[in-house]
Amino acid sequence: MIKNSLWKRILFGYIAIALFMLAMSFYLIFRLTHLNKVTDSIMRVDIPFIENGEKLMDSLLEQVRNEKKYIITNDSAFLDLFGKKKKEFLERLKFLEESATDREKETFINHMRELYKKYISLVSKEIILVGKEEIFPPDIRYEEEKKKTLDLLTESINKLTLATQAGLVKKIELFQSIGDKSARISLIIILLAVLFGAVCAWFFTRSVCVPIKNLKDATDRIARGEWGHRIEVTSCDEIGTLGRAFNQMCDKLREMDQLKTEFISNVSHNLKTPLTVIREANDLLLEKIAGPINEPQMKLLSIVKEETLRLTMMINDLLDISRIEAGLMRYNFQRSNVQDVVRRSVDAIRFLAERKNIGIHSVSGVSLPNILLDADKIAQVMDNLLSNAIKFSPPGGSVVIQVDEVESGSVPRFFAEKNRLNSVHSFVRVGIADTGIGIPPECHKTIFDKFQQVSNKGKGGMKGTGLGLSIAKHIILDHGGDIWVESNGEQGSAFYFTLPCRYDYAVQC
Ligand SMILES: Nc1ncnc2c1ncn2[C@@H]1O[C@H](COP(=O)(O)OP(=O)(O)OP(=O)(O)O)[C@@H](O)[C@H]1O
Ligand SMILES: [Mg+2]
Repeated sequence: MIKNSLWKRILFGYIAIALFMLAMSFYLIFRLTHLNKVTDSIMRVDIPFIENGEKLMDSLLEQVRNEKKYIITNDSAFLDLFGKKKKEFLERLKFLEESATDREKETFINHMRELYKKYISLVSKEIILVGKEEIFPPDIRYEEEKKKTLDLLTESINKLTLATQAGLVKKIELFQSIGDKSARISLIIILLAVLFGAVCAWFFTRSVCVPIKNLKDATDRIARGEWGHRIEVTSCDEIGTLGRAFNQMCDKLREMDQLKTEFISNVSHNLKTPLTVIREANDLLLEKIAGPINEPQMKLLSIVKEETLRLTMMINDLLDISRIEAGLMRYNFQRSNVQDVVRRSVDAIRFLAERKNIGIHSVSGVSLPNILLDADKIAQVMDNLLSNAIKFSPPGGSVVIQVDEVESGSVPRFFAEKNRLNSVHSFVRVGIADTGIGIPPECHKTIFDKFQQVSNKGKGGMKGTGLGLSIAKHIILDHGGDIWVESNGEQGSAFYFTLPCRYDYAVQC
């Protein structure tokens, strides 16, 4: 049993997807913060560090140049410039010292400071000597020492710059890897969210569509009059409630249909006796046994006779349908010839056709074998089909009747169950084709339901009760055959019914 209601399931789906999105957003924010930190460190530490390293080198070279110029020219302007550059060098060195982020850089900077101190002390000695205007250089080892110190200092500055650049490259690589990883993980989260959404949507749609389809099928079956049909309710949600309400409605409908059938059956039965008395009395009057009657009275009594006959037929149809629905229809199966039954019905109805100037033609084929049937019931079917053909054909039309034997494979199936017809090798097929108003294709099945009539507005056609074809269908199906109509809805209809001819089917009755 599914305990969750529809709205809970929808809510759960939305919350789950929202959580996915939230997780992704948090993850992205976290990653972006990390990226921000890396960028910040590059901008604030590495780039100024490299710039200062380069300028440190420039300032050192300037000092060397000015120191040399001073020694050669003894011009104090160069000494001032030297002093300025010295100050700048020390400031930059201090900046590097403060910005150094690891031990390696600190060691480099300390080493540079030591070397610079040494260089300055050597240069100071030189300057003092130049000031005293002594011969310069005092000795060659002094010059070599200064050169060596300067080489070591420039080497240290280069090494520091290279180390900082290597660190920067590492940070850029880290930046790229964070970006790539974030893109990959975001993609995975989005795919998971989409997948989850799709799975949720599939389950949800299925949990809604399957019961709705069952409900629709059940409604179709109820509409076809299968009152006993019920739907299986497996969920406790809104659709389950709808299913239970539907089942309750079916119970009520069945009850009402039963009441209606019983009512019609009782009324019809009770009408039959007074109607028979009226017909008998009318016949006595018409035969002038009760006394002489004049011409107008004769005409009126004839109308009464016709209408009571119609009423009797209607009541018989109502009683038949009640019997069929109650499963009480009785058959008297005997070996008979369908062609004989058809011929008798045609002869009986010919006068009706002649009244409308409609020709009835029988296409005579080879004589067919006798088959098991209830001749009266098949005659009842024939009477209705023939009377319909005449009733719904304009004057001057024609009705063609054909009886033949057909292979079971060539017979279309309309109402008969497949397995019932499988054991039959061949059928006797009776066809009644007319030139009447036709039947639209969408009504080809429904006209075989009780009280179903095609709306024939403007096309003519007398009204009946709409029971004839329903009774015919039950009679034919009880004989193990099938019945159907072919018509394009424009002009003319052809009704067919089949009866098992060579078969191993036994009717239970
Ligand atoms: N040959 C036909 N041509 C055109 N429409 C037909 C024909 N046969 C039947 N129909 C349509 O099918 C409906 C049902 O026929 P059915 O024989 O069950 O009832 P009915 O003839 O109206 O009344 P009843 O037979 O009970 O007196 C008819 O009302 C008519 O609309
Ligand atoms: Mg009819």
